[in-house]
Amino acid sequence: MSVELTLPVSVDLHGGAFNAAPFGTGDLPAIFALEQRSHSHPWTLENLRSSLTSHTCVGLQYQGEWVAHAVLSFVVGEAELLLFVIDKNWQGRGLGTLFLEMLAQAAKQKAQTLFLEVRASNAAAVALYEKVGFNQVGVRPGYYPAGSRREDALLYALDLTFWSADS
Ligand SMILES: CC(C)(COP(=O)(O)OP(=O)(O)OC[C@H]1O[C@@H](n2cnc3c(N)ncnc32)[C@H](O)[C@@H]1OP(=O)(O)O)[C@@H](O)C(=O)NCCC(=O)NCCS
Repeated sequence: MSVELTLPVSVDLHGGAFNAAPFGTGDLPAIFALEQRSHSHPWTLENLRSSLTSHTCVGLQYQGEWVAHAVLSFVVGEAELLLFVIDKNWQGRGLGTLFLEMLAQAAKQKAQTLFLEVRASNAAAVALYEKVGFNQVGVRPGYYPAGSRREDALLYALDLTFWSADS
């Protein structure tokens, strides 16, 4: 089910203004390009397109260009972050923290818990999730293909009931 989130219109980082907005069919070429250049295991265009009808798809724009995107699902009080990507050129500058905290704040209106899965080797993502307050709640051994081998998926949860960006 696609759930509408109330997001701040604009947030500041390093003196620049980032606008949060849902993305739609017309934005797919730009979002797909961002996905391909920034994500080591990019979603297909078809994955992104089908998410538009079944999930909540939002992103951040800077000076009219998409610089981050995320896909979330909502089911009876639970939210799941299915995709979370910061533009390669913006990584490591705090934008991931800002966008994730914004999404958690918005998801709080619709869900008690925000879940996600991450590749065990994705050190930057694991560090970001733990910094924001997610706790590891499980592991799926060998869940992801990794070349000719497999790697574990780590399951993380954020209890939104007691969470705030300031805590
Ligand atoms: C993972 C990702 C979202 C992080 O976004 P970001 O904007 O770079 O994150 P931030 O700059 O806010 O950094 C947040 C924390 O992550 C950690 N971090 C960031 N880059 C890191 C790196 N290259 N190595 C290790 N830790 C890193 C740091 O702990 C950092 O906190 P600190 O600056 O206070 O030390 C981004 O790298 C990305 O989009 N990667 C490709 C897509 C992806 O893997 N998505 C997640 C799975 S779907």
